[in-house]
Amino acid sequence: MKFPVEEIIWATPLYEFLRRCNASPLAKEVLDCGAGGSNPPLSLFYQYGYKTFGIEIAEEALTKAQSFCAKNDMALNIIYGDMRNIPFPSERFSFVYSYNAIDFMTKPDIAISMREIARVLKSNGLCYVNFLSVDDAESWEPFCETGPAKSLLKSEGFAHFEDYEADEYFEAFEIVRKEKRLVEKLWEGRRLKQADIEYIARKR
Ligand SMILES: C[S@@+](CC[C@H](N)C(=O)[O-])C[C@H]1O[C@@H](n2cnc3c(N)ncnc32)[C@H](O)[C@@H]1O
Repeated sequence: MKFPVEEIIWATPLYEFLRRCNASPLAKEVLDCGAGGSNPPLSLFYQYGYKTFGIEIAEEALTKAQSFCAKNDMALNIIYGDMRNIPFPSERFSFVYSYNAIDFMTKPDIAISMREIARVLKSNGLCYVNFLSVDDAESWEPFCETGPAKSLLKSEGFAHFEDYEADEYFEAFEIVRKEKRLVEKLWEGRRLKQADIEYIARKR
């Protein structure tokens, strides 16, 4: 199968997750929670032969992802869904991830979503989730009054985490990799300082 260059995803931390999924003996089935947007990271897993599924709560992001699928003839199976109540049965997936998506919610809703991720994962299945760090310098503005995060998620702004704070969500897991990523980059003429904490964990 040949893919055009724009399908190389920019969500680079997911390559490490993919590498670990490829080494797992479990079936190649993956769910993305917060899967919408114009360049869905699920395309990476699709290219590696995975059966992919995604859920997305915001209509505009869902439409963009579905246009991507139609344009590139990729059946990524991205549907409407809320990770606070994942519309799949328990232990359905070998692999589940949520990339740059969970922090749009309030901390109580993040806790609910993490329990949902654990529920739909098979035993020995792997998950990847990244959280915004309190050291991130770019994400402290309150959400726009009319934006989807406020209306759909009742959230006032991004949730930020201290270095060990999100560990508590991984009680049902063994954490196999945890990395705090501090990134300084030039973006459209601005110098950005970003920080997130990412986890790869195996369900017990
Ligand atoms: C910044 S975008 C990232 C999209 C995609 N993961 C990517 O990396 O390109 C975050 C997405 O998560 C979605 N999202 C946030 N909370 C959600 C929830 N509870 N259920 C499903 N989707 C959610 C948002 O609507 C948004 O489209």
